[in-house]
Amino acid sequence: MGAIVRAMPLPTYDLSAVRSRIPLLRTHVPLNNCSQAPQCDATRAAAGVFLESWNRDGMDWDAWLGEVEAARDEFASLIRADVSDVAVCSSVSQATSSVASSLDFSGTRHHIVASAAEFPTVGHVWLAQARFGAEVRWVPVRDGGTLVEDYASMVDERTAVVSACHGYYQTGFKQDVSAIAEIAHQQGALVYVDAYQTLGTAPFDAPASGADFVASGTLKFLLGVPGIAFLWVRPGVASNLLPSITGWFARRDPFAFDLQRLDWADGARRLDTGTPPVIEAYVAHAGMAWLREIGLGAIGAWTSHLGRCCVEGARARGMSVLGPTDSACRAPTTAIVCENAAAVEVSLRNRHILVSARGQAVRLAPHFYNTEEDVELALDALAATMSDAP
Ligand SMILES: Cc1ncc(COP(=O)(O)O)c(C=O)c1O
Repeated sequence: MGAIVRAMPLPTYDLSAVRSRIPLLRTHVPLNNCSQAPQCDATRAAAGVFLESWNRDGMDWDAWLGEVEAARDEFASLIRADVSDVAVCSSVSQATSSVASSLDFSGTRHHIVASAAEFPTVGHVWLAQARFGAEVRWVPVRDGGTLVEDYASMVDERTAVVSACHGYYQTGFKQDVSAIAEIAHQQGALVYVDAYQTLGTAPFDAPASGADFVASGTLKFLLGVPGIAFLWVRPGVASNLLPSITGWFARRDPFAFDLQRLDWADGARRLDTGTPPVIEAYVAHAGMAWLREIGLGAIGAWTSHLGRCCVEGARARGMSVLGPTDSACRAPTTAIVCENAAAVEVSLRNRHILVSARGQAVRLAPHFYNTEEDVELALDALAATMSDAP
């Protein structure tokens, strides 16, 4: 079946040069970037630099911690922020826990207004604050997205924090962070944004977004591996935080080894914890640097075009797409209704087409290196597999 959306020219970068740097593309069609992006020559080489250093020198903490700082810096530039406002974490779960452990839920301001679009880990961290007095109130998901009006009716003077992911992992729906932040700030509440499903797919300006916290790991659209995540904290907010989840890298000078003194690093570094993830930092730095070189504006234009190809191609094949499909309010991820999604994912993987099943849907998540042909191939295979299903 032919492509439906053909108005977009090729991306402004050299797509075949980009593709030649991702070995997996020789054998696979990876459209599972909402789960795990593929390895590229730069991330592989970066991991190799660490392995070589460890093998050759035994240890070189100056260089290794230098690379953690380089990754912190690269993340800051990805979200147009200052490096002093970025903490290095091990996962979004840990970033969220660190933020939660800094908040006081013991008074009347003890509500957490969280969208039902949060990834479960974020919701679980908020629920775990119940024993400190917190009460979680869920903003409903309606037709695969959320409504700003629902936030307006639920956020009040009892709200300590509003948790609104940027992209919904199930449908790709993008929440309107600025509008939500305005509502929250009018009531004196903080705003926590998990941007794991959107960073790397389009430009994102954390300071301008209105959020107070922006967290993300790197293994999805940022081309990285598990084990490292970043947390941006709005300047001025960090200095009031005393996280009970802490560690020696959150001190002013970790290498003072001052056991009995709990001082706090300036800025977001006070949300660092223990020895940072090093090999992960090498990989994260390389992945994000490549995205920066290509340009997030150009990536955003191409991925949103491919997202439209997914939606229109699915519909042309009689499939149903979950959630709002207006490209202005969605990440490139498209969720296609599919009973038996997990089995379909396996069946497509056996044909070297990588998609990602969640519940009763198969997600196609194209990235900057994918082509319209990739999308067509995956949709044809999906249609064939679905019609084969008993
Ligand atoms: C939006 C979102 N947040 C968080 C996570 C998980 O975060 P972590 O495993 O780093 O805690 C995922 C998926 O793995 C996700 O899609």
